[in-house]
Order: sequence, then C-alpha cells, then structure tokens
Amino acid sequence: MTLQSGFLKHFTLTPELPGDKSITHRAFILGGLAFGETTILDANPGADCRATLHALERLGVQVSDDDTRTIRLAGMSGGFIEPREPLDLGNSGTGLRLLLGALAAQPFSVTLTGDASLKRRPVERVLAPLRAMGAAAVSENDRPPVTLTGGALHGIHHDLDVPSAQVKSALLLAGVQAKGETRIGGIAGTRDHTERLLPLFGTHVTIGGGWVSLRGPAKLTGTTFQVPRDVSAGVFYLAAAAIRPGAQVTLEHVSLNPTRTKVLQAMGSMGLALEVHPSSSPSTEPSGTILATGGSLRGIHLSGQDIPFLIDELPALAVMAAFAEGRSTIRGAGELRLKESNRLETMAEGLNAIGARVTLEPDGWTIEGSGGVSLPGGSVHARGDHRIAMALLVAGLNCRDGVTIVDEALIETSDPFFPQNLDRLMDNA
Ligand code: S3P
Repeated sequence: MTLQSGFLKHFTLTPELPGDKSITHRAFILGGLAFGETTILDANPGADCRATLHALERLGVQVSDDDTRTIRLAGMSGGFIEPREPLDLGNSGTGLRLLLGALAAQPFSVTLTGDASLKRRPVERVLAPLRAMGAAAVSENDRPPVTLTGGALHGIHHDLDVPSAQVKSALLLAGVQAKGETRIGGIAGTRDHTERLLPLFGTHVTIGGGWVSLRGPAKLTGTTFQVPRDVSAGVFYLAAAAIRPGAQVTLEHVSLNPTRTKVLQAMGSMGLALEVHPSSSPSTEPSGTILATGGSLRGIHLSGQDIPFLIDELPALAVMAAFAEGRSTIRGAGELRLKESNRLETMAEGLNAIGARVTLEPDGWTIEGSGGVSLPGGSVHARGDHRIAMALLVAGLNCRDGVTIVDEALIETSDPFFPQNLDRLMDNA
C-alpha cells in the first residue's frame, strides 16, 4: 500500500479512533486467564492486539466477536493449554512481553516469536526477573524467539532497570499466579493500565511512591470493560492541527489517563490551543473529549523524567518541533532505538528527507524549526514502523509536495482507521 499525504490549509476533523492498544492487550490477557467470561467493548482492532488474541486462542481461550470491536473471551480459570506451535506475536512487543509474564507460571514449555522487527527487540529485561521468580527461559542473545518453561513461581521485589510498563505488567501478570508478594519499584513514568484493570478483575493491588505490589496467588474473575479510545493514536491528529494554524481537531471518548496525557502539556507548551473535557461518568480508566486548534508553535526542551511518559508520542512531537519557531532538544530518549524501528534514526532520516533540520543525538534529537514555513516534502522510508509512518504523513500536511511513504508502513498495527481519516482530510481540502 502506498500512503500519501498532501498540503492542507485549514481543516476540521473528528477522526475515528481505535480503542486504546495498551489497555486492549491487558484486558484480553486478563480475560483469558480469568474465571468466567469477559466482554471487552471497543477493543483495539489493530494487528498487534489481534496477534495477542490469536495467541490466547492457541492457549485454549475461546474467543467470539460480535463485531471487530466487541470481544468475548471464555477465561481459562488460571490454566492455559500447552500450544502445539510457537506463538507468533507479529510486530507486537507489548503482546510478547506481557504474555511472557502471563505464561511464566504455566506448567509447560512454549516458544514466543514475532516478525523481523520484534526479533530485534530486547527481552532479557523481562526474562531475568521471571527467572528470579522461578521460570526458565532462553532467548537468542536477548532477542526473540524465547522459549519459556513455566512452573511454580514465588513473588520477588524487583526494581526496573528501565522505566518500562511492559516489564512491570509482565511481572504483575506473573505475580498474580506466584506465591507471596511481588513488588516492583522504579515505575515512575510507566503507564498504569495493568494496576487499574487488576482490581476490576478482583485482584487487590497496592500502589506506593514509585512502586506497586500485589499478593498471589490471586483469583481473577471475568468482567465487562469499555476501552477508551487511544490517545496515542489521537496525538497524530493533534499534531496535524498544530502545524496548520486555524485547523481544528476533536478527539471523542479518548483516554485521559494521566500516565498517557503528559503529551497534552508538551503540545500546549509548544502553542497548540487545547481544551480538555473529562467525562463525568466514573470509570476504571478516565476518558473525555479533547479539542485542539492550531496556532503558531515554539520549540520545546524535553529530557529525563518527562521522557517515559511521552515515549510513544515523541515522533508526533518531533513533527511539531520541525515546524516550530526556534530550536527543540529531546534528550534521554535512547529507548526509542529499541521500538518497532530505531525511531531516533528513522524519524531523523524521514524529517531530513522532507526538508526539516534534525540532528541525530546519541539519545535524542536537536531540531531547528521552520518557524511555520512549509517544508518541501518528498518520499520517505518508515522502516515498517506504524508510528513513524503516521508522524511523517502528518508532516506532509504542511509540505508543499506532500509526503509519500515508499516502503511498508504497517499502520494497521495500531490504527486501521488512520488511512481513512487521512482520506477524509484530503477530501475536505
Ligand atoms: C506499552 C509500553 C511502552 C510503549 C508501548 C506500549 C505498554 O513500552 O512504548 O508502545 O502497553 O505497556 P515500554 O513501557 O516497554 O517502554
């Protein structure tokens, strides 16, 4: 599929947004492990979450879907069935790492693998603490495929080496099935969806200053849960409005989880006018409406503790920085090298190819903004990375010749609605 965007002056858009990807993975896995039935409303329909769902089916979970977004799972009451073949998680780092945790207490061996991108991503950060809990695991030089042999686990106290929600969540999913307390420190900046969902499934979680703990084994009970829409998908449209003064975007029913919305502060400080209206109905996961209007942008300086909160949104922020007045600096973002592509390199390469001025730093970027002036545009490589493709296509909305993605983009990984939203934008032009 060739994806292309073109120069747009003003636009108004209320994009169709998928359910939150991070929450959907967790809800599927917890539902698969639980006693009884779980219904997930507005599940993310993208390829990543589908890969997790298919893996759960191979583990014995019966899945039915009324439509692509309402998924019912018949929980396995704590015991999965040994799969006959390796579980292929495709492009999904979240699916693979969370399932490693969920499978670590299961009394069988299972191999988990994925596509070429996933086979380049580190897994020892999850495997080392799972071994300390009692599981056996072998990776290929810190990369998938991983062969995991589960068994009786005991809780551990573990401080995260990197602030990763995936590692924390894997350990919580193992901890639910382990004997004793599992306590994880160093969690500041990591998204907290697993901690929010566990109590909904009946498991008590204690959260302190920078740590989370639970006591296992604990029984998970099936439930019904409405997934809010994905703010990380919505951010691309906010960035689109931001680089076109006067353009307006409305995101409805979107997640307002505070561990995911730091990006709004960053975008606001760059000059995007934002109104946020939280929904009044109480829920495990807060949601609401975001209204954005593009204005003139200024540069931003991000580093250290801000970064984990913004990790998936940095490509969209880099696009805004490319059109802002003045210099932006992003540091402390070395983790971006370990995502679906080396996002530091892919993004710098892509932005420079369309005429932006980006210097690649060891752990970030220095970006000299165009001060609102349109860039030339052109053809770019997304290296199979969904977020890079969406970010660069958005940049194309303020490029004289638009932007064309010349290689495989895998946008359906997280947001199958993005191409049609982009088409709607172009039709409005
Ligand atoms: C995710 C956590 C983040 C993020 C990824 C989704 C999750 O990864 O980049 O897209 O759902 O837990 P890390 O927390 O491992 O950095």
